[in-house]
Amino acid sequence: MTEIEIRPERLLGDLETLRGFGQCGSGVVRPAYSQADIEARRWLAGRMEAAGLRPVFDTVGNLFGLPPGEGPCLLMGSHSDSQPEGGWLDGAYGVIAALETARASLECGGPPIAAVSFQDEEGRFSTLTGSRIWSGLISLADADALTDDEGITLAEARASMRDLAGAEPVGPERFSAFIEAHIEQGPVLDEAGEKIGVVENIVGIRSERFRFTGQQNHAGTTPMHLRRDAFQGLASFATELNRRLAGAVTPATVWTIGQAALHPNAGSIVPGRVDFTVQWRDAETERLDRMEAIIHATADAVAAERGLALERSAYATIDPAPCDPDLAARIESAAKSVVPGSWRRMPSGALHDAANVAHRMPAAMLFVPSKRGISHSFEEDTSREDLVLGARVLARAAASL
Ligand code: GLV
Ligand code: MN
Ligand code: MN
Repeated sequence: MTEIEIRPERLLGDLETLRGFGQCGSGVVRPAYSQADIEARRWLAGRMEAAGLRPVFDTVGNLFGLPPGEGPCLLMGSHSDSQPEGGWLDGAYGVIAALETARASLECGGPPIAAVSFQDEEGRFSTLTGSRIWSGLISLADADALTDDEGITLAEARASMRDLAGAEPVGPERFSAFIEAHIEQGPVLDEAGEKIGVVENIVGIRSERFRFTGQQNHAGTTPMHLRRDAFQGLASFATELNRRLAGAVTPATVWTIGQAALHPNAGSIVPGRVDFTVQWRDAETERLDRMEAIIHATADAVAAERGLALERSAYATIDPAPCDPDLAARIESAAKSVVPGSWRRMPSGALHDAANVAHRMPAAMLFVPSKRGISHSFEEDTSREDLVLGARVLARAAASL
């Protein structure tokens, strides 16, 4: 096995440069197809080229850095778009760790490795959009019709990358396996003082948009018993949902009402409408199904009780995905040699592109700790030492393939 010697200062330097695109405080605002995202991808393509990897954008803006040669090779990477308020490492770490490993491997005559930054992992248009299209789980035509919160379609957004994207298709058959390094985004490794998580499975997710419509009215003259107040509907739905789900979930199950918009959102108007999202995640498809039934029944009951009309539409479904056992074993043995006694096997509660890619090739993941378990926040961070250790484990796992 040829050792792949990564260079820590180059890894950390590129991560800092990437943070500069859309930087906001210590975090980033770099949603998919924003100017910051496109500029970051352009810079990343230049770094790939300088490393001897051929940069190719596919038609949705997924960026691949391909090593010389034609044969199937290992693919590594993640995403470089961010949440509307995102941390500097979510996705970026996996992309730069992959780039560093791929170029270090070229330098030392190791195996050919490709690096990727998938587009719209963070769900401006859907969930894990770029890797979902690339893995063939949604057609480009269907994806093009998806809209963001402002009603912009994916087709319109990706047109802003037209000068970069689509030169050449890069299909999954070009690659033999996929490894994604990522920050944990939860508290487990940090609390245990451990350095590496070897991911065994990635939870599934369901997301739906809901609308309660009542009667918009005067907040001074409308008696309480005559109101059909959409906000009161949402408040009661949220409370009732927690009560009804309590008996159907495990301690690892999560559900979130993360977005809510009142109409017309004015202090002296009884709200006539509320739009909100409900998202739920679990490692078992059957439990996701049972939760769905409870969520629908709760919304129906609240609407009926309060005289509200209810509309809902599904927004994203990603099935739970196991990681490939052989690849996970490679990561585990790399962790054993780089950070002996300081790693664990664990599930991923966050979603990752690997869940989509797993439909096309063996896929696995490794985590590094997140300080205080904070992510999807400007406060997200990981110690420099842990970032370097994660890349060393990644490089060792890659070299062993
Ligand atoms: C991906 O960022 C997720 O929400 O898990
Ligand atoms: Mn991510
Ligand atoms: Mn994220």
